[in-house]
Amino acid sequence: SDVVPFAGPNQAGIVTPAQDRLHFVAFDVITKDRDKLVQMLRDWTAAAARMTAGRDAGEIGAVNGEPEAPPDDTGEALGLPPSSLTITIGFGPSLFQRFGLASQRPAVLEPLPRFTGDTLDAAISGGDIAIQACANDPQVAVHAVRNLARIGMGTVSVRWSQLGFGRTSSTAVGQATPRNLFGFKDGTRNLKAEQTDLLREHLWVQPGDGPDWMTGGSYLVTRKIRMLIETWDRSSLTEQEGIVGRYKGSGAPLGADAEFDEPDFTSVGADGQPLLATTSHVRLAHPDTNQGARMLRRGYNFVDGSDGLGRLNAGLFFIAYQRDPAKAFIPVQRSLAANDEMNEYVRHVSSGIFACPPGLTAPDDYWGRALF
Ligand code: HEM
Repeated sequence: SDVVPFAGPNQAGIVTPAQDRLHFVAFDVITKDRDKLVQMLRDWTAAAARMTAGRDAGEIGAVNGEPEAPPDDTGEALGLPPSSLTITIGFGPSLFQRFGLASQRPAVLEPLPRFTGDTLDAAISGGDIAIQACANDPQVAVHAVRNLARIGMGTVSVRWSQLGFGRTSSTAVGQATPRNLFGFKDGTRNLKAEQTDLLREHLWVQPGDGPDWMTGGSYLVTRKIRMLIETWDRSSLTEQEGIVGRYKGSGAPLGADAEFDEPDFTSVGADGQPLLATTSHVRLAHPDTNQGARMLRRGYNFVDGSDGLGRLNAGLFFIAYQRDPAKAFIPVQRSLAANDEMNEYVRHVSSGIFACPPGLTAPDDYWGRALF
């Protein structure tokens, strides 16, 4: 079946085999009324449970209600299959400054530090609440976000949103590794759903890590990374492979034979230089270079039309989940920002961090219940 169960100890949409399409949205909470916010979270939870099961957002549905009233579903997903829709929620640091939540804020849930080379646009960064909707049909993902925004009218307003296509990661062993817009396989050495020990160590928040309401949750980092693809496309194959540290065809680490071979950091080539340059992306991002840091990457490609200067506005909407951003995304991005040769071809334009609570297990449970 193409239904991903909505309930469970962890939220769906994290280790769920990455779907093909993304609609990500960040909301600002515009009400001061805590009860109104809680009611919206209850309504959202009910709508999300229905939509992920392939049903209308509301109980009455798109076309069965009072003809004089606006329908409780917008209708564009009528007749479409569930398409493995997952809807994942996260809470941003700014939410905890209000509604008496300060004491519940996890210490690690802080706006990300500034990294060398950042060219962030505040208007498309941050947000109080994030929703990640993933599905194998773009219309199903958009329908989910649109209906949550409709239900939240007057309580939240859309701060920014991002469409993505062509998953840039595998999150399950059975998935073939897809390619990003640089043309390279992406997600080879990702954390995978089957690696339950590693997931416990690196992905899911464990008891005692922070406030109890986050146990079984995970921290979400988003980075919209513009790729200067026209410049990239003028660099030679050898140069591209040197920057990434892998062969473009097979995805194997330079000097190795097969995609899943371990990268070799010790061998040197005929020129006396390391096979994997110290400035190559896979070397700088590798756990051995970052005190064992690992994260689950779940990004998507984007092309937001063109920029009016004859260039495609294209790139990678980077998404990573982890148990502790201070031990995963932050040190890895510091190492990349300082030395990655890929930096010449990418610009980070938006940034977000969100605390994603555990999944819902009780029938009357709702998103954020343990927090409010
Ligand atoms: C690996 C591309 C940004 C972290 C890789 C690989 C590619 C790639 C092709 C090798 C295949 C794989 O193991 O998945 C890109 C591109 C980026 C980008 C094109 C920007 C547009 C980032 C960022 C981070 C990151 C911002 C985190 C701060 C990693 C990690 C690995 C990796 C952890 C696996 C390293 C290993 O364990 O061997 N990336 N990446 N990447 N990347 Fe990126």
